[in-house]
Amino acid sequence: MNKEIVVSGIRSTGDLHLGNYFGAMKNYVKMQHEYPCFFFVADYHSLTTHPDPAALKNNVYKVLAENIACGLDPEKVTLYVQSDIPEIPELYLMLNMMAYKGELEKTASFKEKARSQPDNVNAGLLTYPTLMSADILIHKGQYVPVGKDQEQHLEMARNFAQRFNHRYGETFPEPLAFNFGTQLVKIPSLDGSGKMSKSVNENATIYLSDSDDIILRKIKKAKSDQGPAEPNSEMPDYIQNLFLLMELVSAADTVEKFKQDYNECNIRYGDLKIQLADDMVRFVAPIREKTHALKNDTALLQKIMKDGKEKARASASSTLAEARKNMGIHYYC
Ligand code: TYM
Repeated sequence: MNKEIVVSGIRSTGDLHLGNYFGAMKNYVKMQHEYPCFFFVADYHSLTTHPDPAALKNNVYKVLAENIACGLDPEKVTLYVQSDIPEIPELYLMLNMMAYKGELEKTASFKEKARSQPDNVNAGLLTYPTLMSADILIHKGQYVPVGKDQEQHLEMARNFAQRFNHRYGETFPEPLAFNFGTQLVKIPSLDGSGKMSKSVNENATIYLSDSDDIILRKIKKAKSDQGPAEPNSEMPDYIQNLFLLMELVSAADTVEKFKQDYNECNIRYGDLKIQLADDMVRFVAPIREKTHALKNDTALLQKIMKDGKEKARASASSTLAEARKNMGIHYYC
């Protein structure tokens, strides 16, 4: 077992999709055998969009079930719900004193949200990166398996850790976005525009809960064209995206065959899509079925949450005590 501490979370905002799986979850499952891991459902982060309380609860259970269905072993990792750990909001408050309005306003995710939901630009959105930093630093996390879209947030977490250490003495390691030494992943949407996402572009996103029929329908509708006119032509983005998805779920020789067809101008996108849908169904169906079985086992999920909470609080309270002491917040000794 390596010694670096791994921390990562997924928001409880809706159904998980291939982006969440290949950007984050796949690494969680791999890393659980190699590192001490803390994985959580980021329910506080999902409050920025004011979810309906019943839907929030349902989503927290569902994300937990999906984590386990994807292969996380709650006996091996600490699996918990963010709001069960009161030390996180306390560290968030401290880090907010070190986060400047200008840098928070410049964050790409904040600018994007401010544009897409102009009537709900709340302080939670602005300070989203400080809450994320608190999530990581509360366990002295060093490796953070995330997708490409979280890269800037990790850079900010490093800055906040560095500022804290500089001002109050060495307290936190500087966490790194982690993908086993390779580029962070971005899973594109099926319509060739942007990335797969929980809430935008639902028809161009494949969810881990999608039925076989829906998967087939979505893939059939994916953007394609008449095929290349010249051998060895450069692939347009949306065709590259189909190949990227195929590389994730299909056998290497299948991908090779379609690439060769493309290069020789023999490609039939109808066949490619049917092959991709078949392989995708083979990948998604077992996760979907396992989630379905787990999601209503409230007793089991509550036991997992409680065990996770206990382990996560033990780690969090020790870090918080150190941070408080270093800041001078220790008045009774
Ligand atoms: P969330 O729920 O939006 O995404 C969860 C994880 O899935 C990755 N991801 C993707 N990766 C590749 N391609 C995509 N299309 C794609 N869409 C999503 C995200 O990069 C993420 O790793 N802010 C985090 C939640 C969080 C967190 C943290 C993560 C809160 N605190 C502390 C790490 C450490 C988020 O947006 O999750």
